Amino acid sequence: MCGIIAARVSDDVTPFLLDGLERLEYRGYDSVGVAVRTAAGRIATVRSVSRVADLRADLAALAAAGAPADAVTGVGIGHTRWATCGTVREENAHPHTDCSGRVSVVHNGTIDNAATLRTTLERQGHVFRSEVDSEVIGHLVERALRVDPDLVLAVQIATAQLRGSWAIVVLDARDGRMVAAAHRSPLVVARSARGDFVASDVGTIAAWCETFVPLRDGDVVELGEAWSWSSEGIAVPVPFPTATPFAASALDVDLGDHPDHTAKEIAEQPGVVADVLDRVRRRTADGSTWTGLGLPAFERLAVVACGSSLHAGQVVAGTARTLGGVPTDVVPASEVDQVVLGPGTLVVAISQSGETADVLRALDRLDDRFPVLALTNDVHSSLARRADAVLDCHAGPEGGLAATKSFTAQVVVGVTAVVSALVASGRLEPTRAAALVDELSELPERMAAAAVVAAERVPLLAATVRDAPGSLFVGRGPGLPYAAEGALKLEELAYRWARSCAVGELGHGPLALVDEGTPVVVVDHGDPRITSAAAEARARGGFVVTIGGVGSDLPVIAGRAEATGLAWGRSVAPWGPIEAVVPLQMLARELAVQLGCAVDKPRVPVGSMAVGWPGTRSATG
Ligand code: F6R
Repeated sequence: MCGIIAARVSDDVTPFLLDGLERLEYRGYDSVGVAVRTAAGRIATVRSVSRVADLRADLAALAAAGAPADAVTGVGIGHTRWATCGTVREENAHPHTDCSGRVSVVHNGTIDNAATLRTTLERQGHVFRSEVDSEVIGHLVERALRVDPDLVLAVQIATAQLRGSWAIVVLDARDGRMVAAAHRSPLVVARSARGDFVASDVGTIAAWCETFVPLRDGDVVELGEAWSWSSEGIAVPVPFPTATPFAASALDVDLGDHPDHTAKEIAEQPGVVADVLDRVRRRTADGSTWTGLGLPAFERLAVVACGSSLHAGQVVAGTARTLGGVPTDVVPASEVDQVVLGPGTLVVAISQSGETADVLRALDRLDDRFPVLALTNDVHSSLARRADAVLDCHAGPEGGLAATKSFTAQVVVGVTAVVSALVASGRLEPTRAAALVDELSELPERMAAAAVVAAERVPLLAATVRDAPGSLFVGRGPGLPYAAEGALKLEELAYRWARSCAVGELGHGPLALVDEGTPVVVVDHGDPRITSAAAEARARGGFVVTIGGVGSDLPVIAGRAEATGLAWGRSVAPWGPIEAVVPLQMLARELAVQLGCAVDKPRVPVGSMAVGWPGTRSATG
């Protein structure tokens, strides 16, 4: 996901932009850039296909060399780009400019009619320097400024011609005016004693601002002494600010004894689960979590999410099926147009950030035809605003790239919501629900114990599989989402291919991948079919790692307490072996560390830097 930071402060704006960009890193990016106004009314731009730390070093080196030649002011914009249209190269990185270098723009979103606009603008003599849709915005503003010098009006005219989604900040080199606008892409503005700030997510500026205002679709805002605010071209009063969530401002917390955010967040999971259960325990067994949401009764569930949130959704859907016989669809958000949802469907949209474009687009496609329950870690997010009801996952901020504690929190919040809904609709006896809640209450202890076992055994396991080019992750039924999550973590953190499949599918193709030493990670919750699949992989020379009960390589999955008197499965709860996710996360992280990957950060291609910093030889603007 791309990220935006912009600031108007009294001193040099560069440190604010760099700190903001660092806080945006967790969203993933492949290039980064800043544009800062100088005292002489020029724009100094540096863009780089590398990490924010490299950009910081580059800027320090430029400053040491006396560039820019005139002083940097307190007005600037910055961006982290995740390439979607246009290749990963410096020319495609933001900020983009108009022909003259007067207007600089950062943009998140997608301009659907960019090709048509570009053709028209090129015919009118505008010169484009990149392949990306975002560049049209600067040229549209430039064209409007030729007719009327007012930047706000120019941005209103420019955005009225756009189709698609945008969160933009436009900077005018001449007078340092800065205008933000949004449509279907998140953007917040904030004011504090330090200055005015704009960001694509509130966590980016939470350390500097106690309150913020999210832009609504069609808003155009000028930052400055007095903010001016318009909605769909009509001047409106500045909306009342919202308090910055404490969780967002807590992101920069000390790592304590942990070597990185990922390790810390994995270790925090027992505490997160305990906290979530404390909040929802009483309201789960009596059905009041559900009734409090005010949603209509449902016959079916459709879970819509991406990545790890989709895996959490599989667990939630499996619980609804197993406990209540509720028919469920689990749909990757980007594929929502491929399903037919019947009457009585409740859409459960799950997103840690609440800003994932595929999830928001999926809701657009569903077009208000179904009630939507959002499970999110950010109750101020676009998803939360669009949903009919919201459940806060209370995971706290994740500073590491990979979803870890947010996944576990989604599972527990989703499962307890399902149990509550089933009680409220008469599908589940309150006494059974109370027994299930008791069983969930054992989770923090079981996850903590799993972490202890994994800490002992995972380093050697990771060393053993370090040279393997790819791995298989297998499971069955309620264990399958955890196998999928383990594979995703490995790919994301260690940059190694990992494939997950149901054990029953192994023999239908994937077994051909298993060779001498191929890692096959088995989430074994006690189903005999899993044992025979592991034996099959072993017989082909696979290096089988079992995550299961006593006697497995990672004995972390506890047997189900007989005392609950519940009748499903041999040993697994309806939500499956949650504790297995701990060693899976730890294995992925450990392998990444052993392979020298920066576990907290997204993979960034090694690339080049381009400088338009007045005072350097390649300076522009
Ligand atoms: C995995 C990961 C991604 C996200 C996915 C959805 O570690 O971080 O797969 O889970 O991009 O993001 P959210 O939950 O914010 O919608």
